[in-house]
Amino acid sequence: MVFCCGCKKFWVMLVVMALVCVATIVGLWVYQFATSPPPTSPWDRYRLPDVLVPELYDVMLWPRLDPDANGDYVFTGNSSVRFRALRDTNLILLHCKQLELAPMGDHLARLTALSGTTPLIRKTWLHIPMQYLVVQLNGALKAGQDYELYTEFRGKLLDDLEGLYRSEYYEDGVRKVVATSQMHPTHARKTFPCFDEPAIKAAIQLTVLHKPGTVALSNGKEFASVNIVVDGQAVTKTPFEATPKMSTYLLALVVSDYDYVSQNDSTEIRIWARKSAISAGHGNYALSVTGPVLNFFEKYYNIPYPLSKSDQIALPDFYFGAMENWGLVTYREANLLYDPVVSSNRNKETTATIIAHELAHMWFGNLVTLKWWNEVWLNEGFASYVSYLGADSAEPDWNVKDLIVLDDVHRVFAVDALASSHPLSFDEDDIYKPEQITELFDTISYSKGASVLRMLSDFLTEPVFLQGLKTYLSAFAYSNTESKDLWDHLQAAVEKTGTTSLPTKVHDIMNRWVLQMGFPVVSIDTATGTVSQQHFLLDPDAVVDRPSDFNYQWIIPIRWMKSEGNSKLSWLLEKHADRSEMQTSGEQWLLANINVTGYYRVNYDAANWDRIMAQLHTDHQVIPVINRAQLVDDAFNLARAKIIPMSVALNTTTYLIHERDYMPWESTLDNLDYLYLMFDGSDTYELMQGYLKKQVAPLYAYFKNITSNWSKVPDGHTEQYNQVNALRVACSTGVDDCQKVTSAWYTEWMAQPHNNMIHPNLRATVYCSAIGSGGEEEWNFGWRMFKNASIAIEANKLMAALACTNNTTLLNRYLNYTLKPDEIRKQDATTVIVSVASNVKGQALAWDFVRANWKYMFTEYGVGSFSFASLISGVTASFSTEEEFDQLVEFKEENSDIGFGSGTTALMQAIERTRANIRWVAENQEEIRDWFIQHT
Ligand SMILES: *[C@@H]1O[C@H](CO)[C@@H](O)[C@H](O)[C@H]1NC(C)=O
Ligand SMILES: *[C@@H]1O[C@H](CO)[C@@H](O)[C@H](O)[C@H]1NC(C)=O
Ligand SMILES: *[C@@H]1O[C@H](CO)[C@@H](O)[C@H](O)[C@H]1NC(C)=O
Ligand SMILES: *[C@@H]1O[C@H](CO)[C@@H](O)[C@H](O)[C@H]1NC(C)=O
Ligand SMILES: *[C@@H]1O[C@H](CO)[C@@H](O)[C@H](O)[C@H]1NC(C)=O
Ligand SMILES: *[C@@H]1O[C@H](CO)[C@@H](O)[C@H](O)[C@H]1NC(C)=O
Ligand SMILES: [Zn+2]
Repeated sequence: MVFCCGCKKFWVMLVVMALVCVATIVGLWVYQFATSPPPTSPWDRYRLPDVLVPELYDVMLWPRLDPDANGDYVFTGNSSVRFRALRDTNLILLHCKQLELAPMGDHLARLTALSGTTPLIRKTWLHIPMQYLVVQLNGALKAGQDYELYTEFRGKLLDDLEGLYRSEYYEDGVRKVVATSQMHPTHARKTFPCFDEPAIKAAIQLTVLHKPGTVALSNGKEFASVNIVVDGQAVTKTPFEATPKMSTYLLALVVSDYDYVSQNDSTEIRIWARKSAISAGHGNYALSVTGPVLNFFEKYYNIPYPLSKSDQIALPDFYFGAMENWGLVTYREANLLYDPVVSSNRNKETTATIIAHELAHMWFGNLVTLKWWNEVWLNEGFASYVSYLGADSAEPDWNVKDLIVLDDVHRVFAVDALASSHPLSFDEDDIYKPEQITELFDTISYSKGASVLRMLSDFLTEPVFLQGLKTYLSAFAYSNTESKDLWDHLQAAVEKTGTTSLPTKVHDIMNRWVLQMGFPVVSIDTATGTVSQQHFLLDPDAVVDRPSDFNYQWIIPIRWMKSEGNSKLSWLLEKHADRSEMQTSGEQWLLANINVTGYYRVNYDAANWDRIMAQLHTDHQVIPVINRAQLVDDAFNLARAKIIPMSVALNTTTYLIHERDYMPWESTLDNLDYLYLMFDGSDTYELMQGYLKKQVAPLYAYFKNITSNWSKVPDGHTEQYNQVNALRVACSTGVDDCQKVTSAWYTEWMAQPHNNMIHPNLRATVYCSAIGSGGEEEWNFGWRMFKNASIAIEANKLMAALACTNNTTLLNRYLNYTLKPDEIRKQDATTVIVSVASNVKGQALAWDFVRANWKYMFTEYGVGSFSFASLISGVTASFSTEEEFDQLVEFKEENSDIGFGSGTTALMQAIERTRANIRWVAENQEEIRDWFIQHT
């Protein structure tokens, strides 16, 4: 699955939103040590007893795409599950949620023994708290015997994005209804009674009744449909090939009037979407990458694609980014569809990597599944890691594998450096409630998981990693595992190949990274050769109250090199060690964590920092590009943690006048964002602007040159990203002709609204710059285009750009629109307010607006439609003065009667963060101000 907060790419325009994601995730772990009293009956426990083993579900489902006489959308169905008893028992428990079961005689189910006598049912009921159908028997099921339990049921086809649900859209002015599904993690039970735990695998044979003229899709290949009449209604009946043995959460069903594009090499591949999207060719890009990605994974895993077909489908309403249902992967439209006219290369990369992520799960996750959700990080971290490899196989020119360092490693460092972080893995017994399972899908699981597995593959070497992975997958196909099983297979591969030497067993190394939260900073003193490690905390005064069995000590692979040397691998097991080979002499520098394959930060003695910076100035290309991004990110974070002076961090940015590559620039801009937030409204802000203007001017000139005065698109993928950075920063800091250029393009578009010649890569930046330097006319035009936009990708760019104006009357008007659903849809209100807040000119307006309208928003908009947590974190992100602190506290007191709902934790965090920011500004402003004065 791809979780939305897990995709940096969605948020690139809204840096503040990325912070919001981080903030809300961190709050979730507060209560997880709370324990409940030991349950008395089996149905009072959340976990199923391991007595019954299902073999096959035979399921019929009939979702109605038209409302019934009461105006309700419903589905009906029946299911027969064949299972074996492992021990004698007089109790059957199945998961069942929000279903109405039809009585059969005196009971809610019918039991049949497949041989021997059938015990009589004593009593059946739905046990709502634990989501069970309970069947108590008079006699006993016998160990080793097979039985069948039959139920008939009816459920609501709601637009709640869970289980089998309803999604709607308009095409050519006609309202269309789609029935679709999201069973992961615990919603299969909302569709049919089942043993809804990932380790309880069975085949599922599905038959679907649906409205004539629609198509039904599921995991298995559809057999020929027939038209029949049921209860006087004409319906189409589509049976599906039975699935292999699989977990219930992987079931999928979609009924729609969609169309598809297809390709048939060794596997039949189809991309499904709205008819108009398919006819416009928006599924073609996904189709073109799917074949190469599947071929790549077949070779990578050395196992053929396990199913007879691969369907991927784009849905208008979908909570997550995408979901890896086996054989029928579901996506948000924006993630699967690609429109060359409006989509940027960033959108294209998102499509390729998300497809690769989901297809990676067809083996890792679906064929072989983790036993329980406590280790979900291994499933998601693995898919996130290999998504870069899969995307690279489809787009070998992109260098996409390097980007994991920005998009996952650096991003999760920010969260994992907090005292409130948590380990990758949990005790199985600590995770049992459905809401606990949902909370596991966070940045730590995805991005730290990916980073740690990348480190593992690197120190084992890829051939050894692949060897272990292959034997692991074949040994556990169609069954379940724990992370230990993977470590064991990798260990066997190490021993069998004999090419890799490790300081200890794979299992022992990995436990350090998986079972304790956080990560180390490795400090290297190149004068003495002393190397040491220490738990890295962004706030040095933070108190860590989560104990670690390993005392926050890691087993660390260090890849390092000296100037004019080759890279070497050394291990650090101790807190301190002497490594004479890491001593340097003269002008020689030492660089560690080459290509950031290790999940840690690095600090050096001051002299080595100086020598590295001297190298950056004389010939920066000698340092690998990933490490140029790392040096900036490590330095700024070490400075925030008070380990090195802020001026060392700022010094890492002076060489940027020579830098043309994307990764170091992106890393710098990410890090300067915090300074911008802290100093907005002060003279330091103006000084920063002057400095950055000077640094970006050569980059701007470079792109102007290689694009022949902006008439061409740069060749390289990341070069295109950096062109956007050059334009964005040059325009926002006032580089000479930047605003003239962007305004001219926008004016051209205003003259010919139906002929937008602005390149899709540049649109978000150009719109923001032109509206920022324009007046009411530019804003009104942008607003009109926003209202007319038929494609979400384009509308989102305009929506963000409208917040870029410097005219406070217009900003207030825009804020006012967020309370009028006809102007700004409720789902977008938070984004608009937070965008306004991220504009220096709008910061105070947005805060005033939220304070003035809190009661109204809270009561009128309610919990579901407004993301109060994102709103509070976003609007207060730049708070760093006593006055803002007092206002925040006052806001909390004034509204305590109505409350803050889902924003409660965010408000507490905002108060805490503002405190920390005030302190940080007090401690650092002078040094930073002086540094900028010296460098402008
Ligand atoms: C580091 O990554 C680059 C790609 O950015 C690659 O060419 C190089 O071989 C890598 N270096 C090492 C030592 O693995
Ligand atoms: C930053 O760089 C300047 C000149 O390049 C140097 O004089 C200064 O000592 C450096 N600051 C620190 C703290 O290393
Ligand atoms: C780009 O730079 C090169 C080398 O500096 C120069 O020869 C060329 O004229 C420039 N091209 C444009 C369009 O400015
Ligand atoms: C907004 O920006 C424009 C162009 O940069 C400038 O002329 C104008 O004075 C600014 N308006 C405000 C209210 O700051
Ligand atoms: C801002 O926009 C309003 C409304 O469009 C307009 O009346 C006003 O003159 C503008 N202010 C500035 C400083 O441009
Ligand atoms: C926004 O709404 C408030 C309250 O309804 C009103 O006083 C104000 O004039 C409006 N501002 C704009 C720019 O429309
Ligand atoms: Zn996933």
